[in-house]
Amino acid sequence: MDKFIIQGGISLEGEVVISGSKNAALPVLCSSILADGPCIYTNIPRLRDITTITDVLSTLGMGIERPERNTITIDPTNLVSYEAPYELVKSMRASILVLGPLLAKYKRAKVSLPGGCAIGVRPIDMHLKALTKMGADITLSHGYVMASTEGIKGATIVFDTPTVGGTENIMMAATLAQGTTVIQGAAKEPEVVDLANALITMGARIEGAGESTITIEGMSSLSGLEYEVIPDRIEVGTFLVAGAITRGDLLIKGARAEHVVAVAEKLSEMGVVITEEDGGAIRVNGKTDLRPVQVETVPYPGFPTDMQAQIMALACISQGVSTITENIFENRYMHVPELMRMGGRLEEKGPTVIVHGVDQFQGASVMATDLRASASLVLAALNARGVTEIRRIYHLDRGYEELDRKLNLLGAKVMRERGGL
Ligand code: EPU
Repeated sequence: MDKFIIQGGISLEGEVVISGSKNAALPVLCSSILADGPCIYTNIPRLRDITTITDVLSTLGMGIERPERNTITIDPTNLVSYEAPYELVKSMRASILVLGPLLAKYKRAKVSLPGGCAIGVRPIDMHLKALTKMGADITLSHGYVMASTEGIKGATIVFDTPTVGGTENIMMAATLAQGTTVIQGAAKEPEVVDLANALITMGARIEGAGESTITIEGMSSLSGLEYEVIPDRIEVGTFLVAGAITRGDLLIKGARAEHVVAVAEKLSEMGVVITEEDGGAIRVNGKTDLRPVQVETVPYPGFPTDMQAQIMALACISQGVSTITENIFENRYMHVPELMRMGGRLEEKGPTVIVHGVDQFQGASVMATDLRASASLVLAALNARGVTEIRRIYHLDRGYEELDRKLNLLGAKVMRERGGL
């Protein structure tokens, strides 16, 4: 397994270009199942999770090509299988997003149950309940979701708590349903809106994406398309923190400032100077003393759970006591003991972590545990006095395109050591 060796204490300076959004690309690629013609997707990041989803689609018989680095073309017309196997789903939960489209288009699907994951139990009960209400017959057998239908029908779906993947699965199924579907309590994340835009480009009739009620009028068929996915707002947020934690000065290009408002607000409260520049660029200047902060993760447009670990790393070097509360996932604090190994002073109290500021992290050997936890360790290492070794960085490769190369272009010293434990 690869590891990073990071020489810390260097202020990052310069420009970085943001990649396409992983969490937008995954459902958008799955939505190609619904199309009757070729689909061309651009701004797709080169990541392990993207390879996993294209492997799932290949297993179904879809023709996948990568004519350019960030372009994927899909020919969805020759499906030979309706099964997403355990070997693929276990390495990425988002594979469950083939369930809605397969049912709507081919009336059957067999998808491995994802099982637990590092950040929490993460059930898919809301997806299954909603699809059942839309006319799917679903059983769980030998670790698989076995689903069939005589035809998906429009229905009113009420999510008691917003679910990003659930909203996406149901929205995709509803595009080819008989009748109208109304999703109440829908997730409002930009990735949901991006999927809706891709579906609308295919000819789907969707209103209200980005609001809590989404209405989808079912169609009899959808066409192929050419579509560019949105930039990755979590990568933007991570580079905002990178600028702040190294007391650097970065120009983050290709970002959508409107997608990172909650993160920018919290960083500004801490004293970080963030300015919006022309052409979708954001400047972050961290040459300041940091104030402590109170953060609670909530669904969009609130502060995202996917930025909780990164802002915690920043809070560790602020002057005072911060509190960070995780409300979305029950086990998303695996970075806490690792940050403590690097000199962070943190106390975990149920869903809240109390952070007592220190001057600087210290280099240490640490272990990456999940994607965003790994990002927080990289950020802490960039700030640290001395050298940090981060093992198991395959987690980072799932979700950050060429993070080491991008950081090194900004002056960081991140070395990737290949192989080993
Ligand atoms: N939940 C249920 N039942 C369900 C569905 C969700 O109990 O049927 C619970 C989950 O366990 C969780 C909460 O509802 O506690 C929210 O889960 P949601 O369905 O919104 O999350 P997701 O779709 O599985 C996506 C992102 C995550 C991100 C969350 C929250 C993708 C591929 N994944 O997951 O991204 O944290 O939304 O914003 O879009 C990451 O990129 O590191 C990542 C984990």
